[in-house]
Parts: sequence; C-alpha cells; structure tokens
Amino acid sequence: MRKWFVIILLAAVVTVCISFSKESLRDIYSRPSSEWPKPLVDAGVQWTELAVLPASPVDLQNDSVKNVVELGKALFFDTRLSGSEKISCATCHKPELNWTDGIEKSLGHEGAINKRNSPTIQNSWFYKRLFWDGRSSSLQDQAFAPINSSSEMHSDMPDVMRKLRRINGYKELFKKAFDSDEINPDKMAEAIATFEKTIISSKSRFDQFLEGNKNALTEQELKGLHAFRTKTGCMNCHNGSMFTDNLFHRTNLSFGPVDNGLYNTTHKEEDRQKFKTPSLRDVMYTGPWMHDGSISDMLTIMELYRKGPPGSPLLKPFSSKEIEGLIAFLRAISSPAEPFIKPVIPD
Ligand code: HEC
Ligand code: HEC
Repeated sequence: MRKWFVIILLAAVVTVCISFSKESLRDIYSRPSSEWPKPLVDAGVQWTELAVLPASPVDLQNDSVKNVVELGKALFFDTRLSGSEKISCATCHKPELNWTDGIEKSLGHEGAINKRNSPTIQNSWFYKRLFWDGRSSSLQDQAFAPINSSSEMHSDMPDVMRKLRRINGYKELFKKAFDSDEINPDKMAEAIATFEKTIISSKSRFDQFLEGNKNALTEQELKGLHAFRTKTGCMNCHNGSMFTDNLFHRTNLSFGPVDNGLYNTTHKEEDRQKFKTPSLRDVMYTGPWMHDGSISDMLTIMELYRKGPPGSPLLKPFSSKEIEGLIAFLRAISSPAEPFIKPVIPD
C-alpha cells in the first residue's frame, strides 16, 4: 500500500514538473509585460520596462507643423550651410544608413577627422541630453554646433544667414513655416529640430511581438530577450521603450585613445570617461559602434560585456552561452533604413 502511495506521489510530482517546464519563454513573454519575470536590475537603479516604440512627438497632421518640417528637411540636406558648400547635416547622418555615416569617425571640412562617431539622429527627440558627452540639452541648441565647428561644417552663423537670405526659395519656405519671411538663426534651428523629431525608427519585430503577434520572434530571440532582461544585466542601463536610461556611464568598452566624455561637460571627477547610454533600436544597422566607432563587430562587443569590464558596477559578467541569443535579440529590435525621399533644395 505504502509503495503505491509513493509511486503515485512521484508520478504526480513528475507531471507537475513537466507541465511547469512546458511553459515556454514564448508563453511567458506573451503575457502583459507587468507579468514578465522580474528583471535583473541593481538596487537604486531607476528603470522602466521594455516597451513598444513611441510615436514621434511631432503632429504631422497639423499643416503649420508640416511646413516647419519641410523647411527643416531642406536645411538638413543643404550643403550651403557649410563653409565649403560641400557638407550638409546629411553628409554624416545619411537616411540610407539609418541616419549615420557608417564610418568610424566622421569626415568633415576638407576631410578633417572628427573625434567621435556619428550617432544616428533617429529617436534623438527622446534624449534629455545630446552628444556622447551630453554637452547639448536640446535639438535646437545642438543644431548650431556642427555649423560652427571647424572640423564639421566650418561656417559661421552670420555667413549662413547672409547666404540663406539671398535664396528666394528659403524666403518662401520660412514664410510658410513661420508666417514671416524673416530668416534668423533661432527659426533655422527650430525648423531643423522639428524635422529631426520626425525621424524615428520603424517598428521592429519586437514591437510586433509586443502588439500581439506571438510568432514575430524566434526561439533564439526570445532566449536573447530573457537573457537581456535577466542574467546579463543589460537592463541596468538599456531599458524602457528606447533601450536607454538617458544617463551616462563608464563602460570601458572602446579601443580608442582616452576620451573623458561627460567630464568635458561637467568637470566632475566622477564623470571621467562616461558616455551617454545609446538607444539600441536599429543598432545592427548603426555600426561601427561606441563613441569613437572603434568596434565594428557585435561579437566583440558581447565578448567584452561578457567579462564584466571594470568601469561600472552595473556591468555583470555572464556566460558565453548567452551571446548568440543576445545578438539575435538585437537583430529583432533593429529595422533597416526606410526609403526616404530627399527634399528639393530651394534656389
Ligand atoms: C562632419 C560630420 C557631421 C556633420 C556635417 C553633422 N554631424 Fe551631427 N554629429 C556628428 C558627430 C561625430 C556627432 C557626435 C559628436 C559628439 O557626440 O561629440 C554628431 C551628433 C549629432 C547629434 C546628437 C545625437 C545624439 O544622440 O546625441 C545630432 C542631433 C546631430 N548630430 C544633428 C546634426 C545636424 C542637425 C547637423 C547639421 C546642422 C549635423 N548633425 C551635422 C557628425 C556630423
Ligand atoms: C552600465 C550601463 C550599461 C550596461 C549594463 C550595458 N550597457 Fe551597453 N552601453 C552603455 C554605454 C554608456 C554605451 C556607450 C559606450 C561608449 O560609447 O563608449 C553602450 C553601448 C552599447 C552598444 C553600442 C551601441 C552604439 O550605438 O554604439 C551596444 C550594442 C550595447 N551597449 C549593448 C549592451 C548589451 C547587450 C548589454 C548587456 C549585455 C549592455 N549593453 C549593458 C551602457 C551600458
């Protein structure tokens, strides 16, 4: 009698175990994200759950906003904003390369090599501070920097204003956008910034999965999602709908010469070599990576992370078994560049 009882009990335990293990990652992650497994996030870290791509903050249904965007788009592609008249914003932020330039460090005026890698301008509306070192706090303010920079567009604002005011097409575009044909630097920056805010990622397969298409992700990608949220510690910094905490960290993940990053902006000792956490949306199409473009192979990045590089205590070492899944997941949050119709440059 006792023997039978033990056998039945064992059978019951085995059945329960099997039915639990049957719950696949697909089932688990198909639930609302509030019911997902708890992520590995250190105490004190402010984080938000991964989520669907938010819409652009610009209302393109509104006609007056549309006119500001059209003006900004023309300016973004206009080489006359540079001293040599050969370089536009789009020289280093190319629509066909997900708005990057695809090279280690950007080439500016007469081939001057920039100190840093050109980040994508996709989703840049989301950042609280811009540039790898956070030295700009708005897209309006940011737009002045490349125009004035001797290694980028090598121009100056009075000169750009003189040129624009001579172009009849711009008088019309400014008038349509701002109800007055007065051309000034603030309006120019406002238009460029408004255009940039319309440049966002396309929805990825991860977004489709979150929106209910349970087969949008492969097993490998689901494994990667789970690893990203749990054992690898990525969520400590790359979290929320844009996969960034909007903060700065020291990760020691690049091979170039020392760059003090955020310290150059704040002059605080603890900010040395800290850089902005970049969004990971479309990351498979925005290489080479890191502030100095010094890594052009995703496997190398994962190998560095795996060892838990010294830098931030938020970086966690993990097993090489996780790497394949992580890279698959990064692919699932990346969409290639959408066809983009370049503007007609006014004359
Ligand atoms: C010569 C190449 C080059 C040109 C021309 C250029 N950029 Fe950039 N851009 C860069 C590089 C490099 C960075 C990163 C610099 C840094 O962080 O120190 C950058 C950063 C940015 C950022 C910040 C993105 C972020 O995630 O922080 C924005 C926005 C931007 N550029 C917009 C523009 C606009 C608008 C223009 C034209 C007025 C322009 N760029 C012209 C190379 C260029
Ligand atoms: C401590 C915060 C932190 C953690 C944890 C972290 N990252 Fe990062 N990540 C950053 C910062 C900061 C950068 C930019 C560093 C630089 O440019 O030198 C970065 C850059 C990257 C890049 C290159 C992006 C680009 O556009 O150049 C990838 C890919 C990346 N991280 C993936 C991951 C993955 C996957 C994990 C988990 C294994 C992870 N990160 C964990 C902060 C972090």
